[in-house]
Amino acid sequence: MEKINLSEVTSEHLYVSRRKLLVGLGALAASTVILSACRRGGITPPPPPGTDFCDSAYASKDTDELGAKLTSCQDVTHYNNYYEFSTEKEDVATLAQNFKTSPWEVKVGGLVNKPLTFSLDDLLRKFPPEERIYRLRCVEAWSMVIPWLGFPLAALLKEVEPTSKAKYVRFETIYDPNQMPGQKRGILDWPYVEGLRLDEAMHNLTILATGLFGKPLPPQDGAPIRLVVPWKYDFKSIKSIVKIDLVEEMPVSAWMAASPNEYGFYSNVNPDVPHPRWSQSSERRIGQFERIKTLLFNGYADEVAYLYAGMDLKKFF
Ligand code: MTE
Repeated sequence: MEKINLSEVTSEHLYVSRRKLLVGLGALAASTVILSACRRGGITPPPPPGTDFCDSAYASKDTDELGAKLTSCQDVTHYNNYYEFSTEKEDVATLAQNFKTSPWEVKVGGLVNKPLTFSLDDLLRKFPPEERIYRLRCVEAWSMVIPWLGFPLAALLKEVEPTSKAKYVRFETIYDPNQMPGQKRGILDWPYVEGLRLDEAMHNLTILATGLFGKPLPPQDGAPIRLVVPWKYDFKSIKSIVKIDLVEEMPVSAWMAASPNEYGFYSNVNPDVPHPRWSQSSERRIGQFERIKTLLFNGYADEVAYLYAGMDLKKFF
């Protein structure tokens, strides 16, 4: 068993604008960019010319709603945590480049009246993705600002009609060791599992992302569909999802199983609750030098604090 290096765990970023990007679902399904207003100026650094994903990176704005600059497309797609491929962030893009993401199905079941299996095309047709610029705060104390394309998880959950017994949502990543070399090693208990309380899952900020920078997700960022929960450390944002179950008991996530003292179920961004091995009071934006203060719930407190009213956030970390 390979020893896990927990200091390598990362997170992600979050949301800002809810302005809809007029991205045709067909564009995503066909992996074709239909947006013509491609622009890289201001989004740094520009990738080398050629066929790089970032050549046609698109975002409707240069900043999030707090004025934070978008992270460069190059960094978003070349600094990744995806342990199924590698524990080295810089290696994931190369190792994941041939990952097969089509055909793809997502099974939604458990405590629901209407269990359903969706192909990716079904999902894109039913729930046309829109742009959400979210800050993403890694548990390792770095962060990014990313223009995702996605749709509210709530829309999908409403389709399957959770029963009154359903209290939590459990997510699972694909298990395919032939394609994912990391799954041949005992880094984590595969497949990667994550969970949310049902009200967290139904919150409008919680999305299933199918793209970023105006294009379908590249494999290293969780193609073809991954979760994004902007007020939580980004390991909650599970990649390449194949299964979503409504359940009664709190799911045990892959990181809770690996190190329960360090990773709790909630994992809300909280500058006042240090990780047992480091402070969470500040962070470094990837691409910038100076450290900035970490905000409670990653700056989304106005929208989500009510979900945790009366809870001791030190206990429920
Ligand atoms: N999902 C799976 N299946 N496997 C992983 O290793 N890493 C998590 C999260 N989702 C991970 C995952 C962590 S630690 C982070 S920081 C984010 O994905 C990274 O997402 P990004 O590469 O798009 O920034």
